[in-house]
Amino acid sequence: MSNGLEDVVAAETVLSDVDGARGRLIVRGHSLDDLVGSRFEDVLALLWEGFFPIEDLEAALGTARIAVFGQVRDDPALLQLTPTEAMRALLARLPDGDDRATALALVAAPAVFTPALLRLAAGQAPLAPDATLSHAADILRMSTGNATTKAQAAALDRYLVTVADHGLNASTFAARVVASTGAGLTSAALAGLSALKGPLHGGAPGPVLDMLDGVGTPDNAYAWIEAALARGERLMGFGHRIYRVRDPRADALKGAVRMLAESGAIDPARLALAEATETAALDLLKRKKPDRPLDTNVEFYTALLLEALGFPREAFTCVFAIGRMSGWMAHAREQVLTGRLIRPKSVYVGPVPKLVA
Ligand code: CMC
Repeated sequence: MSNGLEDVVAAETVLSDVDGARGRLIVRGHSLDDLVGSRFEDVLALLWEGFFPIEDLEAALGTARIAVFGQVRDDPALLQLTPTEAMRALLARLPDGDDRATALALVAAPAVFTPALLRLAAGQAPLAPDATLSHAADILRMSTGNATTKAQAAALDRYLVTVADHGLNASTFAARVVASTGAGLTSAALAGLSALKGPLHGGAPGPVLDMLDGVGTPDNAYAWIEAALARGERLMGFGHRIYRVRDPRADALKGAVRMLAESGAIDPARLALAEATETAALDLLKRKKPDRPLDTNVEFYTALLLEALGFPREAFTCVFAIGRMSGWMAHAREQVLTGRLIRPKSVYVGPVPKLVA
């Protein structure tokens, strides 16, 4: 039995490979390093090839953004929820099909719902999508209401590409389990989003900013982190189930953060605080757990990147879902094509009834 299913192989996939020993991520034959300059639409096509038709995908995604905008509701009850919970409620209203139109609506949905929910929460009317823009540029425009610079759109593209797929992570596994029952792509997406929400998976970047707030100034980093570790807390943005070396996605995003800093979109003092916090965290984690390599993961620089792009921390998980939905859809389809229901066993350790002689 393996409690967290460590080292259990539960699927064969052509989609992506996470090499934890070498710190390498491969997406359909391409290393992450080769993909980071691509646009989200190109990686969507790469992931979907053989699973959904990829003809005219970019135009179809723009059309899908416009179609799902009709699902946005100015409902005060939605605004009582966190953005992730509100998005889950909106996603749940989409038809539960198994075709490309459903998959495209699901990829478009978090991209449209996230900006709409943020604007509604700020008392502003949601902005309709513009199908002529790239996915990344349109998301930023709908969120801020401003024209987007090339540097900002490139940074969001890099983020979406970096998180699009990542082996059999918890949310992808959840999506595959649901897909294996034949429930439909919307059900699989809801399972993925619900798993992503937790702080041990996609909910970590918001708390990374809480940590930076707590640290306050670079010279306080060691003392603050030492105290957090002494209280038995986990440091958000560090450690990984698979990687035993640095998560390659951390460097891809650190590069994007540095580029944004060069273009003036990040305060150098913010970057200096993050770097001092990272250095102190790595040093203190090494001292505390010398036998367990704990390195920076994707979420640490995600937090800085999404903050610089103007997303509030409570919406970071929704932005993660914008990228990861592409992978969930491909995995759900791949699972359905195996025709095999996922149904593992458990070991019963509860009381047993007395046998009647
Ligand atoms: N801070 C402090 N200690 C840690 C951390 C951390 N971030 N991560 C692991 N440890 C300790 C852990 O407490 C345990 O110590 P002990 O043996 O004394 O109980 C030891 O290291 C081994 O940890 P584990 O629980 O066996 O490791 P895991 O494979 O279950 O953990 C993890 C993976 C991501 C859940 C964990 O590292 C963690 O909680 N990190 C913080 C949350 C975070 O950043 N999540 C985002 C993950 S990356 C996004 C994604 O790909 O999903």
